[in-house]
Amino acid sequence: MNELELQKINKHYGKKHALCDFSYTFTNGIYGLLGPNGAGKSTLMNMITDNLLPDPDGGKILYNGEETRLLKDRFRSRLGFMPQQQNLYESMTAHTFLSYIASLKCLDRKSAEAEIPRIIERVELTESIDKKMGGFSGGMKQRVLIAAAMLGDPDLLILDEPTAGLDPKQRVIIRNMVSELGQDKIIIISTHIVSDIETIAKEILFIKEGHLIDSGSIPYLVEKVTDGEKSLENLYMQYYGEVQR
Ligand SMILES: Nc1ncnc2c1ncn2[C@@H]1O[C@H](COP(=O)(O)OP(=O)(O)OP(=O)(O)O)[C@@H](O)[C@H]1O
Ligand SMILES: [Mg+2]
Repeated sequence: MNELELQKINKHYGKKHALCDFSYTFTNGIYGLLGPNGAGKSTLMNMITDNLLPDPDGGKILYNGEETRLLKDRFRSRLGFMPQQQNLYESMTAHTFLSYIASLKCLDRKSAEAEIPRIIERVELTESIDKKMGGFSGGMKQRVLIAAAMLGDPDLLILDEPTAGLDPKQRVIIRNMVSELGQDKIIIISTHIVSDIETIAKEILFIKEGHLIDSGSIPYLVEKVTDGEKSLENLYMQYYGEVQR
């Protein structure tokens, strides 16, 4: 079993109520988290991955029925996270960086060393594995971060705008990779680019000003389009009233 349950998660930054009673249950499969800038996508992902201090100010996060804050390392070791910020260690090579992340994840050193070249190949960076990341393009850096998130074959993969700033070819590479990662894990991807997820997501969550405003399978959701073609993009426009960037 693989189940992540969010129960009424709240988060304030001062007076800003960035997440409001956010509840959802994720099971194996790919989920798209859609919303414009400032909607609360990263805040939600940071809450799940415990990347922000202090804790959510209200609510519970359960992984297979147990609170993640109590599971600690037993949760972290099953988690792969790609944060939105690119805090890459510019003087490290891609290989050194991945070894470092593997050690932070407490992965077995030998199996991590065997896994790194395979993951690097998957993100098509084999030729650059021993180059310093300071010289990498934005897309290469994104792919190293995705590789780091995939280390140790996590049961829960959380990718915060993995395709931001990428050209269409690299976006497709990443989309295919995520889709191939299979259905035996929970994958949550945030984006404001509908086409990144509409062919691969089992369910979509629409987030607006910290609230979950709608969710469900794409065929279910597109029926709600009141004007024009029944597409996810039109529903996005309906909910956010703005042209996508
Ligand atoms: N550290 C912080 N301190 C104060 N306010 C914050 C902080 N982080 C986020 N916020 C605010 O909380 C709200 C949600 O931000 P968040 O980064 O979660 O949005 P997002 O959906 O990830 O946006 P984007 O698409 O730009 O990444 C925004 O109004 C933002 O300004
Ligand atoms: Mg964000």
